[in-house]
Amino acid sequence: MKKQDIIIKGKAKTVYSTDDPDKLILYFRNDTSAFDGEKIEQLDRKGMVNNRFNAFIMQKLEAAGIPTQFDKLIADDEVLVKKLDMIPVECVVRNIAAGSIVRRLGVEEGMDLNPPTFEFFLKNDALHDPMINDYHILSFNWATEDEIARMKELTFKVNQVLTELFKQAGLLLVDYKLEFGRYQGEVTLGDEFSPDGCRLWDAKTREKLDKDRFRQGLGGVVEAYEEVAGRLGVDLT
Ligand code: TMP
Ligand code: ASP
Repeated sequence: MKKQDIIIKGKAKTVYSTDDPDKLILYFRNDTSAFDGEKIEQLDRKGMVNNRFNAFIMQKLEAAGIPTQFDKLIADDEVLVKKLDMIPVECVVRNIAAGSIVRRLGVEEGMDLNPPTFEFFLKNDALHDPMINDYHILSFNWATEDEIARMKELTFKVNQVLTELFKQAGLLLVDYKLEFGRYQGEVTLGDEFSPDGCRLWDAKTREKLDKDRFRQGLGGVVEAYEEVAGRLGVDLT
């Protein structure tokens, strides 16, 4: 499968068309961005680490019955995926308070959220990904009621699978963001799952091992991603 035209150049990935109209190639770049693209740096090896990390997670989710766009790894930093008709919302589940919920609701970082909470955000950097609710999604025809229900169901199912997977690796899955699209009428998990789009803390020390290291200038960003990958058994060679 060969890369053809650039379909979208995102902040960290470039999406290419292929000679198969139902397949795309995602190229994971080393670019690392935060604050809606305000802070961008190149971090050596990040593209490769996130591509392999994402492939590992997507295959675990697929095995657990969650439909994903993953097809196969084709290079260190490239994956072949199904072409989805993307729904322009981000689905966030939080098990522990951190990040924007701490600022918005004035709660303390580290507080357990029981039950975990769910939030929708509109995928729009210019508007700083505002929080939206189900009614916005319906009124603006971003998705149907059934699709909303399915996105929530799948996002919580991912929580069950990954909370356990990370727990076995001595990690807390604090929160994460998922994006879905439609493939042959089925709501399907798209985009990526990597430490760029979730928060992972060491279960004992609560050390941050995700993109907050970059956002907060803590250093050792890719080293932390590699640490997580190593604990999970992701093959980075
Ligand atoms: P937040 O605390 O900034 O709202 O983010 C919650 C989680 O979702 C966190 O793991 C980061 C992830 N996320 C993204 O990856 N991209 C985004 O655009 C947003 C809003 C969140
Ligand atoms: N993914 C968004 C950005 O790169 C938000 C973030 O991760 O901070 O700007």
